[in-house]
This record gives sequence, structure tokens and C-alpha cells, in this order.
Amino acid sequence: MAILETKKLTKAFGALTAVNDVSLAVEAGTLHSIIGPNGAGKTTLFNLLTGTFPPSSGRILYDGRDITGTPASRIAHLGLARSYQRTTVFPAFSLLDNVWTAAFATGNSWSGLMWRRTDRYPEVTERARQALSDVGLSSKSNQLAREISHGEHRQLELAIALAAAPRVLLLDEPAAGLSPDETRKMVALVRALKGRYTIVLIEHKMDIIMSVSDRISVMHFGSLIAEGTPEEIQKNPEVRRAYLGGVAA
Ligand SMILES: Nc1ncnc2c1ncn2[C@@H]1O[C@H](COP(=O)(O)OP(=O)(O)OP(=O)(O)O)[C@@H](O)[C@H]1O
Ligand SMILES: [Mg+2]
Repeated sequence: MAILETKKLTKAFGALTAVNDVSLAVEAGTLHSIIGPNGAGKTTLFNLLTGTFPPSSGRILYDGRDITGTPASRIAHLGLARSYQRTTVFPAFSLLDNVWTAAFATGNSWSGLMWRRTDRYPEVTERARQALSDVGLSSKSNQLAREISHGEHRQLELAIALAAAPRVLLLDEPAAGLSPDETRKMVALVRALKGRYTIVLIEHKMDIIMSVSDRISVMHFGSLIAEGTPEEIQKNPEVRRAYLGGVAA
């Protein structure tokens, strides 16, 4: 069953149609990648899915429910989490406090924080610890966010997304800017999360895409030009022309 679907989704910025009539179905439990050249509309598609801005036309369905036009603040509560939004990391907080705050924010209400001590929220603390453990940062949970490496920072951002207890994770170029070693770690992490969450992955590194994806959708100038398994995509002549060049040979 599709957990996330778009129907003829379109977003125009003035004369530019960044996302053009995109109909996409992401099956629950799969890792579905979105690839395409720079400016193809991939990040804009994520912005539409997470309610950063409304589409010009078309619909978004989540778990069978029409969520078109739902604001970003509500989307996270529905179980759709996006990693690598920059705003959420507090450099002077410990890793645990950063993740705890995210776990709490997507929990029930903020009002309780005024009078209950944070250690009275064992379920929130447990969720935060689990998220740190899931990304391999348990041993650093008391370090300050400003003290960790760039690669660990990206892992922390992923933990913050996981702390919201999502069902669907949207990852926009999780390995961008990482060293080869950090990239290997991130790929292992994405693999480990696969199956536990439905994952939609945007990535330029083709070796990663081809090795982790169940399905791949290809965008070009805002439109979907192909969809299939990694094998099908590598063989698709139109995709090769538009994007892969010699990479898939
Ligand atoms: N808020 C915006 N206002 C105006 N134009 C925008 C906006 N966001 C994106 N665009 C334009 O929409 C097009 C698609 O951009 P988008 O960032 O979605 O591409 P992308 O596929 O994510 O590219 P990349 O691989 O480089 O990240 C680009 O031409 C971009 O300049
Ligand atoms: Mg992008």
C-alpha cells in the first residue's frame, strides 16, 4: 500500500514550473529514491510534501488521507519527518538535550514543561536516547553539539528527525559534504533504518542510490521521466541521456 502519494503535483515559481504534474506513489516500508540533475525540482518536491509551501495544483495523500495544504508544523505530528533542516540544532546543548527537545516538541503539549521537571518525562527521554542510539551517537550523548564533527552533526540531525517518531523519513542529500569515511557511515545508517521507516531519499551519489533503493523515480525539469527498480533505471535510455551519462555503464 502507498503510504505517501502525490497526484499531478505542480509548483510554479513565476514562469518557472519547478515541479510539474508529478504523480508518485511511495509504498510503505520501502526506500524510494528521487534522482535528477541540479534544479530538477527534487528539493521543491520535499518542500511540498512537508508543507513548507502549498502546491500550485495537485494533491498530496499521506496514509490515504489528503494532506494538501497542511502546514509544516502539523506535518511532523502526522508522522512525516524531514532531516537536515538546519534550524533545530542548539550548539550549546548536549546531544541528548537537542534530541530530547525534538522528542518533546512532537509529543503532547508544551504547557507541561513550565512546571514538570524534565526527568518526569521518562517516555520522552527514552525516545531521545533510542534516537541517539539508532544513529550511533549514544556514547556522545552528553557532549555539546558544538564539539562534534561534521559527520556526527549530520547523524545528530537524523536523530532529531527520528525523535519525532515518524513513519516516513525524507532525506535530502544526507551524504552531501561528507568525507568518504563519513559517507560510508551515513550509508550504513540509512541501510539500518531501511525497513523500520519508509524512506524517501534524494541523493546525487549514484553508487549509494543504486545500492540502497527499492525504487527510483527520476525527475528532469520538474517532471518525472522514469520510475523503476535500480536495474530498470540504469538501463533506461532516456534516464541515461538526461542524467546518468557514463555513470551507469
Ligand atoms: N522558493 C523558490 N523560489 C523560486 N524558485 C525556486 C524556489 N525554490 C526552488 N526554486 C527553483 O526551482 C527549481 C528547482 O529547484 P530545486 O531546489 O527543487 O532543485 P533540486 O532538484 O533540489 O536541485 P539540486 O540537485 O541542485 O539540489 C530551480 O530552478 C530553483 O531555482
Ligand atoms: Mg535539492
